[in-house]
Amino acid sequence: MGSRLIGYGSYLPEKIMTNQDFEKIMDTTDEWIVQRTGMHNRHFAADNETVVDLAAAAAARALENAGLTIDDIDMVVCATTSSELDFPSVGVQVLGRLGASRSQPAFDVRGACTGYIYALHCARAFFAAGMHHRIMLIGAEKMTRFLDFNDRSTAVLFGDGAGALIFEHSSSGYSGIIDTVVMADGREFDMLHGTPDHKISMNGPETYKKAVTLMPEAASYIMEHAGITADNVDWIIPHQANLRIIQSGAQRLGFPLEKIVVTVDRHANTSGASGVLALSYALDNGIIKKGQLILYPAFGSGLTWGAALIRI
Ligand code: ACO
Repeated sequence: MGSRLIGYGSYLPEKIMTNQDFEKIMDTTDEWIVQRTGMHNRHFAADNETVVDLAAAAAARALENAGLTIDDIDMVVCATTSSELDFPSVGVQVLGRLGASRSQPAFDVRGACTGYIYALHCARAFFAAGMHHRIMLIGAEKMTRFLDFNDRSTAVLFGDGAGALIFEHSSSGYSGIIDTVVMADGREFDMLHGTPDHKISMNGPETYKKAVTLMPEAASYIMEHAGITADNVDWIIPHQANLRIIQSGAQRLGFPLEKIVVTVDRHANTSGASGVLALSYALDNGIIKKGQLILYPAFGSGLTWGAALIRI
């Protein structure tokens, strides 16, 4: 039993924070940020805008795109690590926001930047088990909650946003979420984690080294598992952490850069929302077309890493 993508949507907060805006508040330059990360802009949520606001806005757009209402959805899986409330889950709050009335299940997946791959992994398993007909997958983050403007090495890297995808059960195993693989190594906790006072602790160079190895490894593993080669893949949507990491990964896999979807320049790193936002962007702009095969590698705090294969 497989699935097919029947709707998508995204939401980005109105405020755009440019590299030049950072130049005014800390010791940094547009040149440093662009050269080291490929980032130009990121969206910053308003102070009173919550992760649930972002998630619900993206979910509403995905429902509109699919021509459905929230009661047509059988389960909501939300990838997020930045919820303001410890409970209930963002997924359940989205049900409330959108007026769901049929008690369908909803929960969050905390996989940091690999969160949306973990969420896809869950959705694939539920489809394979034949347990749910329509699943909405949301990636939503307000990373600005964690930013320390006294730490220039992390403050410039992140942005806020949300994306939502709706998958429906299909008898074809060759559409929708075709395959997923997720991994974790808790021994690497120190490299990148949240602190008790809600800040980001990151060893940038070490994280970089891991990222350029683990994303290509996950991509190679899933291609081998699915019995395909790079030539069969139409687009790669890597986790949008840093343009240099993306380019290095593409080179290791022998993928031409023209096959890579890049949004890190405009959204920066939106963690668990990154890949879902990037797919929405690519669909909205006619970059990815129906029938195409997408390879989705990601990595993040944990360390966690993984990949998914999706046919649109
Ligand atoms: N502006 C100007 N200079 C800066 C800035 C800044 N914003 N930030 C750091 N620097 C300085 C440093 O202080 C250092 O100066 P020094 O040599 O005088 O000490 C110099 O730049 C070099 O610093 P490095 O950290 O070695 O720079 P590097 O080339 O490694 O780039 C970066 C830093 C961009 C963070 C890179 O290491 C990286 O992208 N790492 C991966 C980060 C990542 O992907 N994180 C997300 C993981 S996903 C998740 O789950 C959240």
